[in-house]
Amino acid sequence: MSWWEDAVGYEVYLRSFADGDDDGIGDFAGLIGKLDYLDELGIDIVWITPFYPSPQADFGYDVADYRGVDAMYGTMDDLDRFVSAAHERDLRVVIDVVPNHSSSEHPFFRSALEGGPGSPHWDFYVWRDPAPDGGPPNNWLSFFGGPAWTYVPKWDRYYMHLFLPEQPDFNWQSRAVADYFVETLRFWVAKGVDGFRIDVAHALVEDSRFRDNPIGESEAGTVAVGGEFDVFEHVHDYDQPGVTDIYRRWKEELGPHVLLLGEVYLTEPEPVVRYIAEGHLDEAFYFGLNRISWDAVEFAKRVRAACDAMSRGWSWVQGSHDESRAVTRFGGGQHGWERAMALWVAMMGLPGTPFLYQGDELGLDDGHVAIEDIADPVGLEDPEAGRDPCRTPMPWTTGVHNGFSSSQPWLRSARRRPEETVEVQMGDPESRLSRMKELIRVRRATSELRSGELRWLESPPGTLAFSRGDVAHIANLTDDAATVGFEEGWDMVHVVGGRVTRVGGQFTLSPRCGAILKRSTAN
Ligand code: GLC
Repeated sequence: MSWWEDAVGYEVYLRSFADGDDDGIGDFAGLIGKLDYLDELGIDIVWITPFYPSPQADFGYDVADYRGVDAMYGTMDDLDRFVSAAHERDLRVVIDVVPNHSSSEHPFFRSALEGGPGSPHWDFYVWRDPAPDGGPPNNWLSFFGGPAWTYVPKWDRYYMHLFLPEQPDFNWQSRAVADYFVETLRFWVAKGVDGFRIDVAHALVEDSRFRDNPIGESEAGTVAVGGEFDVFEHVHDYDQPGVTDIYRRWKEELGPHVLLLGEVYLTEPEPVVRYIAEGHLDEAFYFGLNRISWDAVEFAKRVRAACDAMSRGWSWVQGSHDESRAVTRFGGGQHGWERAMALWVAMMGLPGTPFLYQGDELGLDDGHVAIEDIADPVGLEDPEAGRDPCRTPMPWTTGVHNGFSSSQPWLRSARRRPEETVEVQMGDPESRLSRMKELIRVRRATSELRSGELRWLESPPGTLAFSRGDVAHIANLTDDAATVGFEEGWDMVHVVGGRVTRVGGQFTLSPRCGAILKRSTAN
């Protein structure tokens, strides 16, 4: 079994996690100071969002130097200290690699822009002639809104950007680009990094003929921030032949112990399977639940379909720095949290790796950011779609700026209530934090038994019930009681968020409740 298969991951959105030098921006010093907290929570993998030198047009997902550390987050020594301090606690480190695009301030792009087609870096990016009418070469749109093309009059060419104009797409047909990334990954592995989360892993390669995308049904199998993007079927800019070859090479070069975890942002499971089966990614996030509103029956159906499509290789998430927090999306407040916890009970038992997003363990709703304080480029275009509410600083204490920093945080937001903070939840055995810790502890304690194949048990719609070896997990996502029948020999180990009553082999879970059982004959 690979080290990640048994692990629980945790996403740190570095800018908003903990500020060590009190400039209002989270950094390595702050993160190092919180490693004991993460260790006590019981997680095994820390994934940190980009820390590279960057103009921050997309808060670090616009990289100007792939082998450096931006001074706002610390120094390379700080990063080294973080990796050692994590390893001392048996925590693995996963970093973000952003191979789809660089920053427009990256020296490669500057060289291309200045030198034009004669530049050694021209071919590093995707350049096309204007259409006959002088307009963009095709109808592709940026995920963040507007055309995916920006015109450069000096060279009478357009360059492509699936995101902001400040994020020009790399041309992955260029061998030099491919080699550059392999060297970059090696550089970080030599520093002790244990794996990579691959940003936009589905979109590195474009259609070789740059054909227009057809207009499709709104359920085109892809997801997007803006509505306009969804009007098209992304058959020529997403998921192109050749993309998985990139990861095959990475896997071959880096070896079996370096985790390659893809942000393959396709909502249907089937196309993602290819990235694991052929592409040699070790895992891909399952995004099928992230942009739909709460629907217990639909959620349960999707999770089962994902498992049917691929028996291993999913990384289970309820949210990230890119979408509204799970508790909010699941209805908010107490019910939202209970639903999230019931779903975590399933995710903590399914084959694959669950990844919490910072604050999930506190059961946080979205933070509140006033319209005049919006910072996310997506939110500046469309406040409804903005990603600031899930990126507000971690609420550590009840003190000033919730203990994140003694200075005004980079993202202004409403103060969190005392009961939302780590400080208050830490001392309360009934708190959301304590419940999450306990769930992770139970997962760890039963991991020996949770081996072998996934077997689905008969259960009502809107519930997930399965056994793996001598452990069973039941998640009742619905607002009604739900009963699941077991053979002789099964006993309750742990209940999350409600009550379970047992009559013979029939276990009845209260609404929004999760339970873990074990087969006592295993003892
Ligand atoms: C990914 C990141 C997101 C970023 C985008 C462009 O989806 O998670 O935050 O804006 O890629 O790099």
